Amino acid sequence: MVNLKSRTIYCRDNLDVLRGINSKSVDLIYLDPPFNKKKVFTAPIGSSAEGAEFSDIFREEDIKNEWLDEIRQDHYALHEFLNSVKNIEGRSSYNFFYLAYMAIRLIECQRVLRGTGSVYLHCDPTMSHYLKLLMDCIFGEKHFQNEIIWRIGWVSGYKTQKRGWIRNHDTILYYLKTAAAAKIFNKSYIPYPPDYVRRDGKKPTGAGVPIEDTWNCSSADVLDSIMIKSFSKEKTGYPTQKPLALLQRIIRASSEPGDMVLDPFCGCATTLVAAESLQRDWVGVDVSYKAFELVKERLGREVPADMVSGEPEFQTAPPKRTDIDTTQANTKFVYVIPHKNYPGEYKVGIAKDVKERLGSYQTSDPGRSFKLEFSFRSPHYQEIEKFIHAKYDNRHEWVSGDLRRIIEDIKGWD
Ligand SMILES: C[S@@+](CC[C@H](N)C(=O)[O-])C[C@H]1O[C@@H](n2cnc3c(N)ncnc32)[C@H](O)[C@@H]1O
Repeated sequence: MVNLKSRTIYCRDNLDVLRGINSKSVDLIYLDPPFNKKKVFTAPIGSSAEGAEFSDIFREEDIKNEWLDEIRQDHYALHEFLNSVKNIEGRSSYNFFYLAYMAIRLIECQRVLRGTGSVYLHCDPTMSHYLKLLMDCIFGEKHFQNEIIWRIGWVSGYKTQKRGWIRNHDTILYYLKTAAAAKIFNKSYIPYPPDYVRRDGKKPTGAGVPIEDTWNCSSADVLDSIMIKSFSKEKTGYPTQKPLALLQRIIRASSEPGDMVLDPFCGCATTLVAAESLQRDWVGVDVSYKAFELVKERLGREVPADMVSGEPEFQTAPPKRTDIDTTQANTKFVYVIPHKNYPGEYKVGIAKDVKERLGSYQTSDPGRSFKLEFSFRSPHYQEIEKFIHAKYDNRHEWVSGDLRRIIEDIKGWD
């Protein structure tokens, strides 16, 4: 069930929009979030993006406790990973705040993708090593496909970077939602140069050189370069604008005409323009109103009129999910699992999906000795968990006591 209308730009925080999208309704997500560069980006005066600005600084006030609770309750591996980031950083927790901000959004991205869907997360070496682990926790390590290195081309570092190798690449992490998504991949090729001859002296046969995971790096790429040339009509002046050719390559490879492409950080609408030019449906989100102005302008300028299938629509209210039972929307399970080594000790925890939680205990326990003793769905799951932890002796979230009494206390809480 899809509750998105193609050609819509939502102008608000993407978390609200992502939370309003039905599960399994999107085929491809490309996201190019702030990179945690600890600075503010502004479009130059006089450019068509003038007025656009976004902050790439993350602090404690950008994070909500509610997100951290959700991660602790429903995504245990992720919770552990984020805590370890805090430990690496010591006193300043900027990376932790950034990653928590990203995690809560990537959880929703994973949920809204169809089983055959894929995601491309654009980042750079500031955070790519942390984001890969974050993606492993959320999408599953086995669904990792490629780390694409995109050589940016002209970078200001040529002039300003005093030490070290000139920084000139971004990283794009490509993951599948499930193994079935591997089927949705249209292999692409860079045509052979006209004067290309094989080592045996013959003219080449076949489509060309298959594209590797390093883009814009080899001499073959000269024929298919992925850069915004300084006088090209696609240049808007929007800070961090990505080339249309980059998005066309991704969309062509990992979706089919008519598929739904979502960009939750759409900026000056590059993904949306690329999707329109390839006959895909699209939805974009950006906190900045500029995105809407620019998509209208760019569709008119960069896509041939006979290929534009409709006017973009502007929305500020997020979509409303139509695939959940609202009576159960705010409830979770309180569950009880006995410790496999210490009789009389029980884990009393919270989970959205209790079967999945038991599965994750059993994965770390090949003897399968963990079993579910009891579970109970309630809107008061947080209060019940707190009450049990306060009433019984507990060490590291394992409480000791009589199982029957613990269960009675959980049931009798209301
Ligand atoms: C790196 S830029 C994206 C550039 C884009 N790929 C392009 O080619 O123009 C990141 C964008 O994310 C937007 N943004 C930042 N936080 C956001 C949020 N929570 N929700 C929606 N958009 C957000 C910023 O306004 C900015 O336009």
